[in-house]
Amino acid sequence: MNLSHRPKRLRKNTAIRNLVRETRLNVSDLICPVFIAEGKNIKREIPSMPGQFHYSIDRLEEGINEIAALEIQSVLLFGLPEHKDESGSRAYAQNGTVQQAVRLVKGKYPELFVITDVCLCQYTSHGHCGIIDNKAIDNDKSVEILAKIALSHSEAGADMVAPSDMMDGRVKAIRKILDENNFKDTSIMSYSAKYASAFYGPFRDAVNSTPAFGDRKTYQMDPANSDEAVREAGLDLEEGADILMVKPAMAYADIIYRFKEKFNVPIAAYSVSGEYSMIKAASRAGFLEEKQAVAEMITGIKRAGADLIITYFAKDIARQL
Ligand code: PBG
Repeated sequence: MNLSHRPKRLRKNTAIRNLVRETRLNVSDLICPVFIAEGKNIKREIPSMPGQFHYSIDRLEEGINEIAALEIQSVLLFGLPEHKDESGSRAYAQNGTVQQAVRLVKGKYPELFVITDVCLCQYTSHGHCGIIDNKAIDNDKSVEILAKIALSHSEAGADMVAPSDMMDGRVKAIRKILDENNFKDTSIMSYSAKYASAFYGPFRDAVNSTPAFGDRKTYQMDPANSDEAVREAGLDLEEGADILMVKPAMAYADIIYRFKEKFNVPIAAYSVSGEYSMIKAASRAGFLEEKQAVAEMITGIKRAGADLIITYFAKDIARQL
C-alpha cells in the first residue's frame, strides 16, 4: 500500500507519544476540596465518598499537611455545621467552621491559596441554597445573606470566594460588599453554569444537604441547555467574576469548551462527588482500572478547556505525577 499519510507513526513508541502529547496535567492545575465538620477530634471517612474525610478544626492540620506536602497549591473549603436553621446563620458566623478553618490554614500555610464555597444549603434546616419565603426561594434576600457569608470568609482571610448558590445577582452583591469593606483583592470564582445534577448525590450525603422539600431545579440549570450557560457566564463576568466555573465537568465538556472559546478569563471545572464516587465504586468492583480512568477523565476535562480543575482525586493525581 502506498499511503501518503500514516498518523500511527507518531504513536509508535513511548518517546514519540510523549513528544507529541498535547495536554499534560500538572499539580498546579488542581484544587482540592476539604470538608470541615463542627465538633472535636473528628477524622471520619465519608461513606458515599470513599477516601474523603470530614475533619474537625482540631485535626484539620493533618489533612492540610498531606495536601501541602503533595505541592497542591489550592484548597476549596466546605463547612458542615452542627446546627442548621431557617436562615443558615452559621454560614456567616465569625466563629463558624469555615471561618475558623480559613484562619488556621492561612496562619499555618500562608502560601496555600484558600478558596471558600459560599452557599446556604449546608446551613439551612430545609437544605435549599437560599432563604425560603412562602415555600419559595426569595432571591434577593438570599443574595444579601450570601454577600454576608462572602464577607465573613474574606475577613477570615480567604483568597477567593466561590458562590455556588445560583441566585441572580449574587456576584454583583458580593463584589460590592467586598469592595466596600476593603477586600478589593479577594477574587470571585463564580459557579456560573451549575447544573441541577444527579452527580451531586454523594456530596449531599456528605454534608446532609438534600432539600427537605422540592428540588433545586428553580435555581440550578437544566442539563439540556448550553446557550443559557453562556448567558449566565456573561452576566457573571459583567458583575465582576474573575473566574468562571462549570459544574459538573464530565457530562459538560461542551460547556467548558464554549466558555473557553468565548471568554478570555480562566475557566474552572468542578469534577463533582458523583464523578469521584462512580470511579471509586467501579474500580473497587474490579470493573475498571482506577488510575488510568482518573487520568483519562481529568485530562479530558483539561483538554476541553479547563484551566483549573477542582477534583476529589487531587491528592491521588498529585501522587502519580
Ligand atoms: C453547595 C454545593 C454543592 C456542591 C458544591 N457546592 C451541592 C449542591 O448543589 O447540591 C456539589 C459538590 C459535589 O457534588 O462534589 N451548593
